[in-house]
Amino acid sequence: MRRNRRFEWNRRLVRENRLSVDDLIWPVFLCEGTNVCEPLESLPGVSRYSADKIGEQARIAQDLGIPAIATFANIAMDKRDVNGSEALNPDNLINTGTRAIKDAAPDIGVITDVALDLFTTHGHDGILRDGIIVNDETVDHIAKAAVLQAQAGADIISASEMMDGRMGAIRDALNLAGFQDTGTLAYSAKYASGFYGPYREAVGTDGLLKGDKRTYFMDPANADEAEMEALLDIEEGSDIIMVKPGMPYLDVIRRLKDKFAMPTFAYQVSGEYAMIKAGSSLGFMDEERVVLESLTCFKRAGADAIYTYFAPQVARILNSK
Ligand code: PBG
Repeated sequence: MRRNRRFEWNRRLVRENRLSVDDLIWPVFLCEGTNVCEPLESLPGVSRYSADKIGEQARIAQDLGIPAIATFANIAMDKRDVNGSEALNPDNLINTGTRAIKDAAPDIGVITDVALDLFTTHGHDGILRDGIIVNDETVDHIAKAAVLQAQAGADIISASEMMDGRMGAIRDALNLAGFQDTGTLAYSAKYASGFYGPYREAVGTDGLLKGDKRTYFMDPANADEAEMEALLDIEEGSDIIMVKPGMPYLDVIRRLKDKFAMPTFAYQVSGEYAMIKAGSSLGFMDEERVVLESLTCFKRAGADAIYTYFAPQVARILNSK
């Protein structure tokens, strides 16, 4: 076995999977105000940008060859309520951000998300009634939000809130409004995970969230169930399925890829990013090496594309090779 590993040239010849800039999706955080670039403590190297500053970032990403940006936002407290009504404001921060990105970098794909956590006072992804996240009312609400996001110019509408029946409702609403060509991405296997911690600081829900999301996100112990979730999303018309978080769930990516042969994305989430940053800043590991290794392993597991906060950094490394 070792003969094929002797030199870099023969390792290159037998290499089975390759990470490329084409595999990267860059998640970005918007914030209110103008001329704001706010570094995030729990995500070293990641900042929140006001809508007027996000175009410049999109332009940088486009010039690096990154195919798509996924937007999230830290919405001001006075715009949030228990029902996430702000999601239905055509000029909310997400939609303003989409327009700014499209103006500055028309060739980069914009992926928005319909989950209500950005808009609610309780930080849950859906509408809360008597301590319960209500499914059907949330689905109606997010299907309307999806149409507004498409109207603002989003190319792909993603759904990360794990309600039942959402992908079909979003697809129908988009079609009815004339957005047959707008894609949908289902966070099919989204787990109730501790690895989302830093994201919740970034979008301002860390202090808000009461209880947890276990009644609607998946149990980390399950994988058969991920197949069922993906099957439903595919039957309801999703163009892409996703697994989230990433590194602890590579087996789930492989199962879904093998089972459905669908475009299958993965999300290297905030806690995974923070872990690598923390470990390498303490000198316990080499940052560039583990970043490239972790992302290459997503490819090996069958991911077609990867959401990662490392996207610009990795694109620079890969472009210089
Ligand atoms: C919520 C949402 C979460 C992330 C993206 N959208 C997590 C949560 O449920 O709180 C996590 C992203 C990350 O951790 O990087 N719909």
